[in-house]
Amino acid sequence: MEYKDLILRALKAKEKAYVPYSNFRVGAAVLTEDGSVYEGCNIENASYGATNCAERTAIFKAISEGHCEIKALAVVGDTSTYIYPCGICRQVIAEFAKSDTPVILAKNEEEYIVRTLVQILPDAFTKRDLNK
Ligand code: THU
Repeated sequence: MEYKDLILRALKAKEKAYVPYSNFRVGAAVLTEDGSVYEGCNIENASYGATNCAERTAIFKAISEGHCEIKALAVVGDTSTYIYPCGICRQVIAEFAKSDTPVILAKNEEEYIVRTLVQILPDAFTKRDLNK
């Protein structure tokens, strides 16, 4: 799948963002090992800490449907800058991705940058540290 197509899915997901508190919309799309794509948006909560980021929504949807590997992840926001996954989301991505898995940070389907997981989360604590 082309990065552009994954970005379009993330843009579509962003429209569903539930953001009554921040009004900061984020969308994500995950490509899994068999080529399926799962979309996610941020879902906020009156108890702010219960908020779920777009990336984790997309990843949890994919894993809960039986997938086990992230092949690529695209993230989009509504800002003029690129939105990087937060620290918690980077850790969740690391559970299901490889060090060279592309994380695509996009403003739109034309303007994007690509980072690998190891670039945004070097020296990660992973299941290998638990000998799993
Ligand atoms: N947010 C995401 O969905 N993904 C990120 O990578 C950064 C932050 C959301 C959480 C919250 O709903 C809003 O953006 C402001 O922090």
